[in-house]
Amino acid sequence: MTGFDTLLPRPVSATPQPGVCAWPAEVEVRTDPDLPAEGYRLEITPDGITLTAADQAGRTHARQTLRQLAGPDAFRAAVIDERPRTIPCGVIEDYPRFRWRGCLLDVARNFRTKAEVLRFVDLLSAHKLNVLHLHLTDDQGWRVEVPEFPKLTEIASWRTGSMVGRHDGPERDGRPHGGFYTTDDLREIVAYAAERSITVLPEIDVPGHARAVITAYPELGPEHENPWEVWTSWGVSTSLLEPSEYTLGFFRRVFDHVLSIFPSQVIGLGGDEVPGATPAHGRLVVDLANYLASQGRRAFGWDEVLDAGALPPMVIGAWRDEAAAVRAAEAGHEVVLCPEDRLYLDHRQSDHPDEPIPVGYLHTLEHVYGYQPGLDDPRVVGVQAQLWSEHMDSVRRVDYAAFPRLCAVAEIAWSPAERDYAEFLPRLRDHHLPRLDALGVEYRPLEGPHPWQTRPDVPPSSHRPLTRA
Ligand code: ACM
Repeated sequence: MTGFDTLLPRPVSATPQPGVCAWPAEVEVRTDPDLPAEGYRLEITPDGITLTAADQAGRTHARQTLRQLAGPDAFRAAVIDERPRTIPCGVIEDYPRFRWRGCLLDVARNFRTKAEVLRFVDLLSAHKLNVLHLHLTDDQGWRVEVPEFPKLTEIASWRTGSMVGRHDGPERDGRPHGGFYTTDDLREIVAYAAERSITVLPEIDVPGHARAVITAYPELGPEHENPWEVWTSWGVSTSLLEPSEYTLGFFRRVFDHVLSIFPSQVIGLGGDEVPGATPAHGRLVVDLANYLASQGRRAFGWDEVLDAGALPPMVIGAWRDEAAAVRAAEAGHEVVLCPEDRLYLDHRQSDHPDEPIPVGYLHTLEHVYGYQPGLDDPRVVGVQAQLWSEHMDSVRRVDYAAFPRLCAVAEIAWSPAERDYAEFLPRLRDHHLPRLDALGVEYRPLEGPHPWQTRPDVPPSSHRPLTRA
């Protein structure tokens, strides 16, 4: 069954008309610069389809809407049923609520292959999300080749083992973990995403979350902590980059390379979780933000950077609380709302003992769907979900954590603010989950994990609801 009331994210307006249109159909494409950015109008009649959009993104989103109308099999990689199909007639007028509709994928803690990232781009596009925030560096691994600094890939891109589960005891799995993207891999990811109207925002995290890079180049770190290792623990490391001229020069050159790959106007420099940071660490962040500005870009930083000093205009990822978002907006920055207590999709999805792996806050699908961005300020450019990957050691686990909650995020980011979980749930269950099935997404079933999605091997240490790791 197909119909306008199956669409996800829900469009701004959809008016059914009598009749059906044979599918696949010729689509006449028109441009109307007066439509909103990324918006589109679809007129579906028994005689054919007219797609009008202001820009490429609008055309992309309209095509995704048509795909949804064509039924779940349209999400398979090949046609499996040659019988003629139809889609319903009517008019859809649609545009996004927010211009930044993001998802962070942490490929530093657990590497995702290039093929897996490309697949994830497809999944974002299917949900009309438009920013892929790639968290490329952390204590546990550095994932981007920088030819000038070969030890980043020789040393920093792998670790000897990983912490088992979330209990920070002595247990390690003893299995090396690693991987990195070459410059050409990243160019390919960027181009693939751009074809789908998605911007890839790279993040190089400073001055914390830096053990991997310090292991490769110990002169970047505090002397007394030698010898270094790419971290095999999760959690917040207290080791920070040494805020020296050398470190500043090193990271300028790293960013030079990153800028040569990523055309994104916004480039991430992290700045989060810096226990013991000094004013000199703050200056390093400010200097790098200014450097990015001098290169015609704008830095993205987590809300801790508001304490770093006098920053150039930035994009602030407000993750700790709404007060941080207010503070960032008042300081004249653009703000992306990334609240840990709503949009961290690595956090557990139910309180049931079978739920793998019980980190963080309880974020049920309904809880995520109920998030209403509270700050009504034009400097709030959007919302973003986070997939931190400490406990996601395979793409199957990323699927499990992301879906179907990312469907709820898509609707928060795209659809008009008024929404009703009682209306969303059957639309998701009866119409959208079959699309995810056709795509081969191993989402969390609404009633709870499949047996093979549970993790009885992970020690069930007590819930610490206010911490991530
Ligand atoms: C963060 O969760 N450290 C941004």
